[in-house]
Amino acid sequence: MSVGGSFPGGPGQGSSAPQMPPLGAPPAPPSPSRDEHPVSDPLPFPAAQPQSTQPEPTQPVPVDQAAPVDQATPEAPAAAKLGPTGRPMPDLPEPRPLTSHGNARVIAMCNQKGGVGKTTTTINLGASLAEYGRKVLLVDFDPQGSLSVGLGLNPHEMDLSIYNLLMERDVDFQEVVVPSGVPGMDLLPSNIDLSAAEVQLVHEVAREQTLARVLAPALATYDVILIDCQPSLGLLTVNALTASDGVIVPLECEYFALRGVALLKTTIDKVQERLNPKLEIDGVLGTMFDGRTLHSREVMERLVHAWGDKVFHTVIRRTIKFSDSTVAGEPITTYASTSTGAESYRQLAKEVLSRCLDG
Ligand SMILES: Nc1ncnc2c1ncn2[C@@H]1O[C@H](COP(=O)(O)OP(=O)(O)OP(=O)(O)O)[C@@H](O)[C@H]1O
Ligand SMILES: [Mg+2]
Repeated sequence: MSVGGSFPGGPGQGSSAPQMPPLGAPPAPPSPSRDEHPVSDPLPFPAAQPQSTQPEPTQPVPVDQAAPVDQATPEAPAAAKLGPTGRPMPDLPEPRPLTSHGNARVIAMCNQKGGVGKTTTTINLGASLAEYGRKVLLVDFDPQGSLSVGLGLNPHEMDLSIYNLLMERDVDFQEVVVPSGVPGMDLLPSNIDLSAAEVQLVHEVAREQTLARVLAPALATYDVILIDCQPSLGLLTVNALTASDGVIVPLECEYFALRGVALLKTTIDKVQERLNPKLEIDGVLGTMFDGRTLHSREVMERLVHAWGDKVFHTVIRRTIKFSDSTVAGEPITTYASTSTGAESYRQLAKEVLSRCLDG
């Protein structure tokens, strides 16, 4: 049974062969009404059905061959090259060099599901943007401190962390920020201390605006500020959304990753309505994509159906190099500079720049 078996317009409709969605058909975003704040999943999978005996393809199936050109009509226009999302890949402009820096766009990397690639995307998107000459600040806003560890910091050897900046009035931004090891990219580090802030902030006045206040002095210095959120929708994440102009939602290309997306959308909508009217969804990023499996491709198809153009054309494929680079304490763009993973994050950086930074 394919996971998209009874999905309207999806695979399994009138054909036994798996198909990609119709090319060029404008996807219909679900856009649940803000007033209703539905908590049901906008992408319900069909109820569990008996497993089909149909085996998954064992050979890689290049997505760009999903719609072969009709050989019988030579004068037919050449089919546009399809990307892994099943849509034609756009020609992304080369990022323009900057003559001055500042007026940062703040982007939160947010998904309450754990292990979907938030931290990996923060590090590598940040490093790629820095390669393109942007001045980048990464904010580790997760008490797990994975972003700081992933950039080679020891969580037990931090004199000051973002916790001090949030909770102690006499601590200055410049005292806490550290170089990340990547030229043009700095880091506000974090460790387990930050978990106390979530409890202590409850008693503060304007508790949801605390991070926005802390980041205000950095806006004039940086071009992009990326906030790595923890896997929850608690007060720290609400702070991150309140401080941000945009949200990027990394989503693992896997069945369970789609569940809970409605709750995340509801949280983003509530923050936008009540705390931060400028907040917008900058994009949804498919991560850990495996183009060889029908499952990955169908999850991607559902993402595009549900989120339309919000889905980045870039997807991040599954590769062990990401774990290796974390152990090495550096971004994949320097650890394995020419790898597919590094190239994907550079392409994502171009897409982010053309979509919401240089535009
Ligand atoms: N594209 C990928 N291919 C393979 N492994 C990946 C990929 N992206 C991330 N990983 C690995 O998956 C694990 C989880 O990734 P990451 O820490 O970025 O997720 P996260 O969403 O930040 O998790 P958490 O919610 O716990 O903060 C890490 O070990 C990371 O190295
Ligand atoms: Mg993380």
